[in-house]
Amino acid sequence: MTKGFDIEKVLMQMTLEEKAQMCSGRDFWKTQDVERLGVPSVMMCDGPNGLRKQLGEGDHLGINESIDTVCYPTASAMAASFDKELLRSLGEELGQECQAENVGMLLGPGINIKRSPLCGRNFEYFSEDPYLAGELASAYIEGLQSKGIAACVKHFAANNQETRRLSGSSQVDERTLHEIYLPAFEKAVKQGKTRALMCAYNAVNGIFCAENKKLMTDILRNQWGYDGFVVTDWGAVKDRVKGLKAGVDLEMPGSTSGKTAGIIAAVKSGELEMDILDTAVRNVLKFVNETLEKREEKAEFNREAAHQKSEVFAKECAVLLKNNGILPLKKEQKVAFIGGFAEKVRYQGSGSSHIHVEHPISAMECADGLSVVYAKGYDENSAEVDEALIEEAVAAAKETEAVVVFAGLPDAFEAEGCDRETLELPENQNVLIRELAKVQKNLTVVLHGGSAVTFPWKDDVNAILCMHLGGDRAGKAAVDLLYGESVPSGKLAETWPLKIEDNPSYLNFPGEEGIVEYREGIYIGYRYYDKKAMEVLFPFGHGLSYTTFSYENLKISKSCMSDQESMTVSCKVKNTGERAGKEVVQLYVGMKKSTVRRAVRELKAFEKIALRPGEEKEVTFTLDAGALAYYETKIHDWFVESGEAEISVGSSSRDIRLTAVVEIHSEMELPMTVTRMTTMGELEKLKKGREFVRSFMQKMGMGQENNEKSEANRRTDDAMGEGSEKARMHMMLAMPLSGLITYGAMPEEAVDDLIRSLNEE
Ligand code: BGC
Repeated sequence: MTKGFDIEKVLMQMTLEEKAQMCSGRDFWKTQDVERLGVPSVMMCDGPNGLRKQLGEGDHLGINESIDTVCYPTASAMAASFDKELLRSLGEELGQECQAENVGMLLGPGINIKRSPLCGRNFEYFSEDPYLAGELASAYIEGLQSKGIAACVKHFAANNQETRRLSGSSQVDERTLHEIYLPAFEKAVKQGKTRALMCAYNAVNGIFCAENKKLMTDILRNQWGYDGFVVTDWGAVKDRVKGLKAGVDLEMPGSTSGKTAGIIAAVKSGELEMDILDTAVRNVLKFVNETLEKREEKAEFNREAAHQKSEVFAKECAVLLKNNGILPLKKEQKVAFIGGFAEKVRYQGSGSSHIHVEHPISAMECADGLSVVYAKGYDENSAEVDEALIEEAVAAAKETEAVVVFAGLPDAFEAEGCDRETLELPENQNVLIRELAKVQKNLTVVLHGGSAVTFPWKDDVNAILCMHLGGDRAGKAAVDLLYGESVPSGKLAETWPLKIEDNPSYLNFPGEEGIVEYREGIYIGYRYYDKKAMEVLFPFGHGLSYTTFSYENLKISKSCMSDQESMTVSCKVKNTGERAGKEVVQLYVGMKKSTVRRAVRELKAFEKIALRPGEEKEVTFTLDAGALAYYETKIHDWFVESGEAEISVGSSSRDIRLTAVVEIHSEMELPMTVTRMTTMGELEKLKKGREFVRSFMQKMGMGQENNEKSEANRRTDDAMGEGSEKARMHMMLAMPLSGLITYGAMPEEAVDDLIRSLNEE
């Protein structure tokens, strides 16, 4: 027996008023019901790293009470796992809980790209890299939706800061939008098959997302084939009728300011076609119907088991940033745990994703059976240096064999609604760590925080373990990792710069008067730091283990291929240490030369593998030539250029172990209008143009073997040395067609005939 209803039948029977109401929530968290037609209301709740189900008064800032439940590591932590299975498993856990709580949709994952480490909501987002964000988001969505719960990817699009979040406009050029800010969403739609998508508060290039037809219909539906529904971010609506025309189906929360009446009036006056309204209603009904059909009345959720899962996730996400051999600690060592976060674990961010947890576990609570003393060292709610706390901590450090400082960003430093002002840790923590370093060599810092931080004491400490915002079992996970019960295997999903001024968006963040220009273009994160060969604090993809891995035997199935083909790339990875561990094998590609601006390398595949000591595994990736493409604005599409592609495999973006080159031949020609100003070099991009250039060069005696050269060219070569042939070629390729006339190589009419014939192609 089906639990759903006949959407078209219901739609036919709905009045104009009912349809208009259907396009807006019944309240803060639910869709509108139509009782007389058997359409129930469906509840949606915030995630993405737990279920924020509010039974009382709703709010979108995490202020009012929500149910007591499990807080998993936040997205920035989960991303560091580089583990799609883990993300799928997180989705399944959340889906199961949603079923048990009768919630039809979870508002997540958040997949905005980390343009600046200062964005206050970075803890809720995956990465600076669109490929990684898209892959992980898709796995999360698949897991969640496998339980019959709709995912809702957010916030579409170019929502990369909190400053002026409700009213700002992100000015992004076409190539950058398509290469950096849209791909994760595209993957969430095409691969993850997300059933819902949330439009962002901000405008993109001057048009609010809630009214942006180009984004919500042309790209999302027409180009990507999206067939789910679009919900506004909470309170994002300005002009609702415009929004419906743009393809935004549901306004949330329930409309309070006469917007429903506005829809009715617009239909009556003919301003809004009934067909458009019907499409929006149909999309919402489809979601309600699917929720009914997939509803598991008897679903149960085992909260205790889920807390255990949260702990497993936290361990997989932790990144060992530095280790001079001090870690893992030994159980019998006398150790001081220092810092407020050792006692009161910092595990999630503030705002709409804030999960209510009855009892998050701190590191100090897990110290039973260990020889651990505690000193507070700093007040976690302030940046003020407290000399007495430092003195007490230094005394404890002197009496122990090793010290672990639990440091990180206080709650108030990273929250939805405001951006961070600095990448620095609070001053009291920096001073404390430096003082401790003076008296204790065996010093480890455990970092908590949702995004990159900078610090002046990297060289003064022996080890740094980053737990991110690791969820409600972060304290337990940290202790297990510190003592080697578990082995760290996370990798940074974002670059940690030496200082904020190094970040490519620095000069244009957060913009002026609500306008933020993405002037760095495609060069964000490691794409920028690598291009500029800059030193960073920790590179993208970096993370150590308690064991070591060797990479060997890179094999690529083709040495030469067209832009329509694919290749397999494989290599052997071996655990060369004495502990079992996991390695994230990362595959990067780049073109050795390009006619457009390109990053040195871009992540295009990754896999996390587990290896016992001495064990070796072959990792194989399939890469189609599309992975080498850039977004070409001339054709408003992706384009693979001919040339040499560098395929690299490594342990981080700056620890490339193996590299090979593959020759790519593009079968596609970009459209080009040839004029007298077109250079000979540019002509080479056209088949017919190439033929002309070659025969012209031949006529001019260029590109020949020594014995074929004319007397004049040979004399020039002798006089000017080896570089002269190269220089002649270079000058020739840089010459516009008009030069052929100027220098008497071809008559004017012949050049114009050539131009005409090339443009006929
Ligand atoms: C946030 C969304 C959230 C919504 C509902 C908004 O302010 O931007 O991410 O899902 O509130 O709480």
